[in-house]
Amino acid sequence: MGFPEHRMRRLRSSDAMRRLVRRSSLSIDDLVYPLFACVGEGVKEPIESMDGCFHLSPDLIAVEAAEVVSMGIPAILLFGLPEKKDESGSDAWAENGAVQQSIKRIKDAVPDLLVITDVCLCAYTTTGHCGVVKNGRIDNDATCELLAKTALSHAQAGADIIAPSDMMDGRVGYIRQCLEQNGFHDTGIMSYAAKYASAFYGPFRDAVHSAPQFGDRKTYQMDPASSDQAMQEIALDIEEGADIVMVKPALCFLDVIQRAKARFDCPIAAYFVSGEYMMINAAAKAGLLEQETAMMEALTCIKRAGADIIITYAAKTASKLLGA
Ligand code: PBG
Repeated sequence: MGFPEHRMRRLRSSDAMRRLVRRSSLSIDDLVYPLFACVGEGVKEPIESMDGCFHLSPDLIAVEAAEVVSMGIPAILLFGLPEKKDESGSDAWAENGAVQQSIKRIKDAVPDLLVITDVCLCAYTTTGHCGVVKNGRIDNDATCELLAKTALSHAQAGADIIAPSDMMDGRVGYIRQCLEQNGFHDTGIMSYAAKYASAFYGPFRDAVHSAPQFGDRKTYQMDPASSDQAMQEIALDIEEGADIVMVKPALCFLDVIQRAKARFDCPIAAYFVSGEYMMINAAAKAGLLEQETAMMEALTCIKRAGADIIITYAAKTASKLLGA
């Protein structure tokens, strides 16, 4: 086998040929668009650290959700900003919190749009940690109780899927049990199963003011140097009742996505996070690369690695480019 019997360029010779032999194709059906909810009326504040993203009050988030539907995007991932922070992050499960109000407004406006809600305490606690702090340490089991309470409040408001992003041990089990006990048998769980302690969350922490006030997240988020632990985390979350499991971030962790896809049968989601998105935008702004082409290449490669679902701030851009 060799040249000239085989010339690899034959199958690259035209656009039609490349389309014919292509193995992965990004679809609008794969994408989830993150939105940021705050309280109030008529609020649409640009988030300075993240291009094209806004803090939106429940009335305007419903308008945005309708646009997302009109662009063919099947799902949103909702984050919330609290009115006030406290030690336990109690605004996270407030019946009238920004997320809870927004879910209701979105479901009234566009009932078919899938509403996935991020469940975590970091934006709600004064410490900026994803769990409650006792004696300078994050208390795992006490945090799980509060996460379950938060998840229940989202389900009661009408969320379709709960997405815990805190990385406490056992939280998927706590949440599943709490949902079952309260009759929310059909509310799904998409767990941030393999979530790494990454520097690429920087722009997001500015957006929701959730930077830890002491220490870092390394005692609960994973060490970027390991992928075996990611397989254990994912297996445990599936056992505890996760319907979809996520790898996060995406670009530096394509090997983890690939391993997860080969090993597990449930849908695999990948989060193309704020720092990855803004890294491309910043390079484009500096004239170093072409923004849309680079963005589509990144998304396509995340798909190729094995992601069934991609959470991305570029979902609207991708929808336009895919001609959806
Ligand atoms: C909350 C949470 C974070 C992100 C999603 N959920 C930040 C963090 O863990 O510090 C990051 C999303 C992004 O960077 O786009 N735990």
